[in-house]
Amino acid sequence: MKHTIKTITCIGAGYVGGPTMAVIAQKCPEIKVNVVDINPQRIAEWNDTDLDKLPIYEPGLKEVVKEARGRNLFFSTEVEACIREAEMIFISVNTPTKTYGVGKGMAADLKYVELSARQIARIAPEGKIVVEKSTLPVRTAQSIKTILEAEGNGNKFQVLSNPEFLAEGTAITDLHNPDRILIGGDQDEDGLAAIQALVDIYAHWVPREQIITTRLWSSELSKLTANAFLAQRISSINAISALCERTGADVDEIAHAIGADTRIGPKFLRSSVGFGGSCFQKDILNLVYLCRHFNLPEVADYWEGVVKMNDYQKHRFAKQIIDSLFNTVSGKKIAFLGWAFKKDTNDTRESAAIYVAKELLDDLAEIHIYDPKVKKEQIFRDLEYVYSQDPTQSFDPSVLQSLITIHEEPYQALENAHAIAILTEWDEFKTYDWQKIHTRMLKPAFVFDGRNILDASEMKKTGFEYRGIGKG
Ligand code: UDX
Ligand code: UDX
Ligand code: ADP
Repeated sequence: MKHTIKTITCIGAGYVGGPTMAVIAQKCPEIKVNVVDINPQRIAEWNDTDLDKLPIYEPGLKEVVKEARGRNLFFSTEVEACIREAEMIFISVNTPTKTYGVGKGMAADLKYVELSARQIARIAPEGKIVVEKSTLPVRTAQSIKTILEAEGNGNKFQVLSNPEFLAEGTAITDLHNPDRILIGGDQDEDGLAAIQALVDIYAHWVPREQIITTRLWSSELSKLTANAFLAQRISSINAISALCERTGADVDEIAHAIGADTRIGPKFLRSSVGFGGSCFQKDILNLVYLCRHFNLPEVADYWEGVVKMNDYQKHRFAKQIIDSLFNTVSGKKIAFLGWAFKKDTNDTRESAAIYVAKELLDDLAEIHIYDPKVKKEQIFRDLEYVYSQDPTQSFDPSVLQSLITIHEEPYQALENAHAIAILTEWDEFKTYDWQKIHTRMLKPAFVFDGRNILDASEMKKTGFEYRGIGKG
């Protein structure tokens, strides 16, 4: 059976659903694309006439929304009506790591996915193609299918897995020029027809040979595997950075030298204070949980090492700050440049900055934070969350208020600081007047460059006690 897709609805207007649907709408003007969310504020922001008020910051996103919104791209809270209207429904809701019960701290929390599937099953007037877009553990599609079949009033649904590989900060270019599109589905006649319907959508702008189709489970597991491999590269180079610091080698020289081997390749070898973001840790923990579930403890331990190394890297960075400042940061002003988990995004999920801040706060540091895109309320929410996850500490919000200051402007944050810690690689940090900053800091003026963005020899010449990552 050949499908004709006239309307698509995406449930979840977040970092994945929003930009992805905006690009589909841009590239497929004849298809109506609805993006729905239960959060009315988020939808209002997506609909704001002031495009600087979109709920997420991504270079190039404004332009795409401007082109498509109101033409064939619509944001609304009308979840049910939009489910009824569409032939194809994407599920792009959040799937955080479970914070309770079985699999706490490891398994993905599928409650939002399950709720969406039940809602589709209950109200869809006929069978639809349901596409899972969120990162999900292998065999989630089967759970979605089971729910749709059990609750779906006899309607026949097709479930596809279409993992998203975009990286935040480059979402729009990644969507416009993806390395590949991956679509998994059942291999029977109906399954293949559903796969074809989604292939036809992407084929509007992606060359056909870059659209890979697989079985359902292979597609689901590919997403977890891709993120596990990427994160593993970072943990691997970060492990070497620790050895470099002890032995006098330079991790960037090593990354360059090994990256020239085409079997290794040069990308994704930037040593840093640690990876963050909503995907890497969550997906690896998910993989670890799956392996334990299927009684593969050696495989589980292998991948868990990637997360442990990342925790170690964040801890090592915080400890280096405390050690260098004569074993205490109590009452000292530490300036943070950057809070987002990487540059060009306002997303802070799992950002290394949060964990470094927590360790310094435990030592009673006074932290002054500047990030060009992250809002003040978000920083406090992140810190409150990290305290809530620490069972050894009772949390007093007034302490946080007294130890944390958030700045709208960088130079004030840096004034009279004992040390500066660079947590995000925002380009603007490189353009600052570091000479001027040096004169306004307490001496010795420490800079801990968690992203290796500044020139070490220049910084030392200016008089800084400069410490990069993996610079012996
Ligand atoms: C990642 C995957 O790249 C993407 O394919 C998937 O769809 C979602 O997860 P994202 O988390 O948005 O994307 O950003 P990414 O560029 O992968 O960076 C993740 C973290 O790793 C960031 O904290 C980044 O600073 C860090 N990183 C990345 C490094 O420390 N070194 C590197 O060389 C690359
Ligand atoms: C290796 C390095 O490749 C080379 O750069 C270095 O100078 C010496 O060590 P070598 O051991 O000769 O070279 O062969 P290589 O092709 O790397 O294979 C090593 C082992 O890995 C072999 O047993 C090979 O069968 C295995 N292998 C390699 C796999 O199992 N899978 C692969 O994808 C690649
Ligand atoms: P991601 O990075 O995966 O896109 P986000 O948290 O940015 O995650 O976005 C997920 C969005 O899904 C949120 O805006 C949330 O309000 C929305 N959402 C969650 N559950 C539902 C639901 N049942 N119906 C509609 N929207 C939902």
